[in-house]
Amino acid sequence: MKPQGAMKDFESLLCLCNIKTTTLFKLIISFIIFLSFSYVFNSINLTSFSIQSLEKSLRNSSSIFVQNPTEKSAGNFQTYPIIPQEKTQLRHIVFGIASSSKLWKHRKEYIKLWWKPEEMRGFVWLDKPVKRSTDDKQCLPSVKISSSTSKFKYKNSIGDRSAIRMSRIVSETVRLGLDDVRWIVLGDDDTFFFAENLVRVLSKYDHNQFYYIGKSSETHRQNIHFSYNMAYGGAGFAISYPLAKTLAKMQDRCLHRYPKLYGLDDRIQACMAELGVPLTVEMGFHQLDIYGDAFGLLAAHPIAPLLSLHHLDVIEPIFPNTGRIQSLRRLKMPMKLDSAGLMQQSICYNSVKNWTISVSWGYATQIFRGIVPAREMEIPLRTFANWYRMHNEVGFSMKTRPLSTNACRRPFVYLLSNAIYNRATNRTASEYVKIQNRNSECNWKETVNPSHVWRVEVYKMREPNLWDKPPRRNCCRVLPSTKEGTIAVDVGECREGEIIEL
Ligand SMILES: *[C@@H]1O[C@H](CO)[C@@H](O)[C@H](O)[C@H]1NC(C)=O
Ligand SMILES: *[C@@H]1O[C@H](CO)[C@@H](O)[C@H](O)[C@H]1NC(C)=O
Ligand SMILES: *[C@@H]1O[C@H](CO)[C@@H](O)[C@H](O)[C@H]1NC(C)=O
Repeated sequence: MKPQGAMKDFESLLCLCNIKTTTLFKLIISFIIFLSFSYVFNSINLTSFSIQSLEKSLRNSSSIFVQNPTEKSAGNFQTYPIIPQEKTQLRHIVFGIASSSKLWKHRKEYIKLWWKPEEMRGFVWLDKPVKRSTDDKQCLPSVKISSSTSKFKYKNSIGDRSAIRMSRIVSETVRLGLDDVRWIVLGDDDTFFFAENLVRVLSKYDHNQFYYIGKSSETHRQNIHFSYNMAYGGAGFAISYPLAKTLAKMQDRCLHRYPKLYGLDDRIQACMAELGVPLTVEMGFHQLDIYGDAFGLLAAHPIAPLLSLHHLDVIEPIFPNTGRIQSLRRLKMPMKLDSAGLMQQSICYNSVKNWTISVSWGYATQIFRGIVPAREMEIPLRTFANWYRMHNEVGFSMKTRPLSTNACRRPFVYLLSNAIYNRATNRTASEYVKIQNRNSECNWKETVNPSHVWRVEVYKMREPNLWDKPPRRNCCRVLPSTKEGTIAVDVGECREGEIIEL
């Protein structure tokens, strides 16, 4: 037999084709060769191939490189792919709405305005069962009856002992043992939440850590009486789930220690202080501890997503001559089009007419005579009083500016009347119409009198990812307008090199 022949037979054996001239000897040899080949193949697989790919994935940090602790043999590594951390979504939030059977009939209408039964999770917590219509059952969160708080003492002379029941919403929600919860968000039954923005804000924080996120009051004295470290309950606040679980373990003991506190929110804060978790401030929560017209505050909203509005029964309707519920319905038009941009201020100048124009997108626009610098325009006009009905500037926890007594310095105000999305231009168009005001008695000659302008059109590209970037005020540009009595403005992210100055 020629050596080539043996080789050929071996090849055919390897190929598993036709085994014609097999001898036992050939078979054994072939089997040994086969075994050694598969050994070599496996070693390659185990050493160079897998280590390389592991290192690669380590560098790319899409999986971790862990030594399996149960494996005895050193150097035997395994990969555990990390399921990429999904961004926080609405379904990761559980809302807890503090309500009472007494006010339920009226307050439930506010909840209906923002609650999306298909997309949101949460409960309204009541002291006792209420009658619910079919509509209520479809449009509102399910109702939970809080457990008894009779074992707790309440010793605050002006508050109500329901505060104990309401602060326990956190631990009662934890005890429901719901799946896949990242945040518990508490609010009152007269709080309007802008849920899409809430998701934008909460997704910036690591829900696996301890976070207590909210905002203090607009009224300085309130914060001195309670605390600047307290998240006001009506403004709404968020507690990361691990923190809520930790709080739940000690909350009842903690509540026993503070019978003299006033509300649900100072009770939560007292326990947070014991746990050593400070308040993380998000400027978009609005307790609205104010009386009167919130206009000044909302027309100069901080450069942060709008998260909530509270005291809807206390402040004047957001759109005058419109009911409270109706006003919020109107605000929902721009909210649905571009929630990230809602109430975001932009400031621009018309140098020909010598005007300053301010847009609070989806809510209001203003024209001021003359050139008002941005540092002044971003300060809220005092169109409201504080929680003790004081109008002076020291009453507030933020800088405010007075409405000028000089008619020339008062703004012409235009409020939202309509907002649409134009598919052809891929932009929103919103319309703002002048409200009556007494500022036409001005005799300044250097500025054109804006009194003939009764309507403002604002064009804006939608920017759902606005808050993924560091905060920056949008820019606005005055557009040439062809319509009588109308000015047109374009709003959007500032372009390269675009600065607001004159
Ligand atoms: C990371 O992954 C990408 C795509 O999978 C790949 O092209 C790249 O080479 C990897 N980088 C490193 C450093 O391994
Ligand atoms: C704009 O108006 C202000 C206030 O009347 C005036 O002081 C200023 O000179 C005017 N500027 C121009 C460019 O007309
Ligand atoms: C429309 O605008 C959005 C941003 O607002 C952008 O992401 C999208 O690509 C645009 N669509 C078209 C068809 O230009």
